[in-house]
Amino acid sequence: MSSNRPFRLEGRTALITGGASGIGEQTVRALAASGARVLIGDINQPAAQSLASEIENSHPIQLDVSDPSSIAASLERLDSLDILVNNAGIGHVGTIEECSLADWRNVMKVNVEGVFLVTCAALPLLLKSQRPCIVNIGSVAGLVGVNRRFAYCASKGAVVSMTRSLAADYAGRIRVNCVCPGTVGTPFVEAYLEKYHKHEKEEVRQQLDARQPIGRVGKPEEIAHLVLYLCSDEAEFVHGSMMAIDGGWTAL
Ligand SMILES: NC(=O)c1ccc[n+]([C@@H]2O[C@H](COP(=O)([O-])OP(=O)(O)OC[C@H]3O[C@@H](n4cnc5c(N)ncnc54)[C@H](O)[C@@H]3O)[C@@H](O)[C@H]2O)c1
Repeated sequence: MSSNRPFRLEGRTALITGGASGIGEQTVRALAASGARVLIGDINQPAAQSLASEIENSHPIQLDVSDPSSIAASLERLDSLDILVNNAGIGHVGTIEECSLADWRNVMKVNVEGVFLVTCAALPLLLKSQRPCIVNIGSVAGLVGVNRRFAYCASKGAVVSMTRSLAADYAGRIRVNCVCPGTVGTPFVEAYLEKYHKHEKEEVRQQLDARQPIGRVGKPEEIAHLVLYLCSDEAEFVHGSMMAIDGGWTAL
C-alpha cells in the first residue's frame, strides 16, 4: 500500500462497461487519472470514441453487454485485465401491472444477464491478475423498494445477490464489491425526466432531490470516486460489501 499517494492504479487495466456516459464516464476519468489503462466498453461507440480522444491511456471498445458474441469479440482481444466495473444498465418505470414481459426481459437482459456474461468472459483474465477486482454498480433499488420500479428493483436486487455469490466463491482470489447509488444526476435521469415528465421537469427534479435526506441528487464523480477507492489497494480488506452512496436514503 502506498500511503503517500493513495488510490493509485498504475500498471493495471480496467474495463468499464457503459463507460461512455454518466457514472461510467466519470469512473473512466477517475481510474485513468489514477494511472490505470482504461477500456471504455459501450454500445454507443461515437460517445466512447469521443471520450477516449480526451483521456490519455483510454481506449474505446465496441461492447453490447447483452450480446454474448459482442462480449467474446471484445474480450478475446485483451491480453490482461485487472479491474472490471459492471456499470452498463438501463431503467424501466412501472409497477408490476405496468411492466410487460418484453419490458421485464429487456431490463433483465442488460442489467442482470449483462453482469453475468461479462463477468464470466472476464474471469480467465482476472484470475491471471495479481490484484483483480470487480465492482458492480447496483442501486438503492436493489436494497429497498422504490415506487414504480418493479423490474429495475428486481434487476438491481440480482446485482446485489450476484455480488455476494461471487464474493463467496472467489474470496482471496478476486475482490468483488457492489456500489449502490441513490439518484445521480446523469443522462439516465435526464432521459427519464424527458420521457415521463416532459412538462413538469422542475417539479419532479425537486422530488428527486428530496428523496435523498441531504436534499440533492448525487454527482456521478462522487460515485466514481467510491469505485476508485474499491479498486485500490487501500480497499484490500473490503470484499463482498454493498456500499450505499445515497445521501442518506437507505438510512431512513
Ligand atoms: N443515475 C442514477 O440515478 C443511478 C442510480 C443508481 C444506479 N444507477 C446505475 O448506474 C449505472 C450507470 O447509470 P448512468 O446513470 O450513468 O446511466 P447513463 O444512461 O448515463 O449511462 C449508461 C451507459 O451504458 C451504456 N449502455 C446501455 N446499454 C448498454 C449495453 N447493452 N451494453 C453496453 N453499454 C450499454 C449507454 O450507452 C451509456 O453510455 C447503471 O447500471 C444504473 O442502473 C444509476
